[in-house]
Amino acid sequence: MSIPGPLLEVKDLKKHFPLHRGVFRRVVGHVKAVDGISFKIDPGETLGLVGESGCGKTTVGRMIMGAYHPTGGEIWFQPPNGSPRVNLAAMTSTEMKPYRPYIQMVFQDPFASLDPRMTVREILAEPLVVNKVAKGAELEGRVRELIEMVGLKVQYLNRYPHAFSGGQRQRISVARAMALYPRLLVADEPTSALDVSVQAQIVNLALEIQRQMGIAYLFISHDLGLVRHFSKKIVLMYVGRVVEYATADILFGRPRHPYTEALMSNVPSTRPELLGRKIILKGDPADPINPPPGCPFHPRCLYSQKICSEDKPALREINPSHFVACHFAESLDLRGCDALGCVI
Ligand SMILES: Nc1ncnc2c1ncn2[C@@H]1O[C@H](COP(=O)(O)OP(=O)(O)O)[C@@H](O)[C@H]1O
Ligand SMILES: [Mg+2]
Repeated sequence: MSIPGPLLEVKDLKKHFPLHRGVFRRVVGHVKAVDGISFKIDPGETLGLVGESGCGKTTVGRMIMGAYHPTGGEIWFQPPNGSPRVNLAAMTSTEMKPYRPYIQMVFQDPFASLDPRMTVREILAEPLVVNKVAKGAELEGRVRELIEMVGLKVQYLNRYPHAFSGGQRQRISVARAMALYPRLLVADEPTSALDVSVQAQIVNLALEIQRQMGIAYLFISHDLGLVRHFSKKIVLMYVGRVVEYATADILFGRPRHPYTEALMSNVPSTRPELLGRKIILKGDPADPINPPPGCPFHPRCLYSQKICSEDKPALREINPSHFVACHFAESLDLRGCDALGCVI
């Protein structure tokens, strides 16, 4: 049965981490890691979440997983059995329990995410045992199916994680995440710790699994090129906020936010005549504890005007399904990856 509407809808999601200081651990401020972001993911679709390190991507993933409780906002999830959608952000961890199997996460570091004291068989069996999904011969059958699905041999089930390469460990992490037939996989920079040649294998594996299982992905990355391979729609974040949100074709064809243009100008190009087109951003990303007034990007923006330091631009729908948070989105003529001949 297919259910109309999004699988996941995030509305104005926020996570502010308190900053403590001194012997009494007084709260002296907040890290606004995620400061009001919204997006939707349809069943079986991939949404790319992109931005520089520290912009809040992992924090978004962790809130969706239920690992962090949001400071504000909503996370609406549509259960696959057709029952009404639920707001995970308003639930206690006990209330969230029945929905947890549907949302799984694969992490960046394949060396830290697998317990070194467990064999691969135990690692893959654990979610099935904990959720009382299978035991005995059925459990063994499912574990074998999982390891084969990610292209590893059944003989490897008796080994410990240290016996594997980074790419193989990431395959094991993917297998474990698939154990309970999730509907959404949050993949947090799953290939960035791997060699380039291995990255492509993991990307292809993820695409193949998506095709077979019809699973949706929230694909988190700082690499725009990689995200384009995966995603129909892309959300671009800057210091806890969305700066641009569009389909990949629109975004790469004609970006409307100067930050998007700057990121795209740094993707390698097939056209040497465009060398020198790189936009080197001034300074560092804004401090999420004390972001600049007005548009948080204005101190680094090539096109900044007076209003940009005074008035924070809202995320506006400037064309159908194209959202931009820039005062000058309509008038700027920016070049995207398609015009720049980016290698992606
Ligand atoms: N548990 C935490 N406590 C305090 N600050 C945190 C915590 N987790 C992340 N942050 C801060 O929140 C911001 C966003 O972090 P993160 O979500 O990890 O970004 P990204 O994944 O995009 O690199 C960073 O400034 C980071 O230092
Ligand atoms: Mg991260």
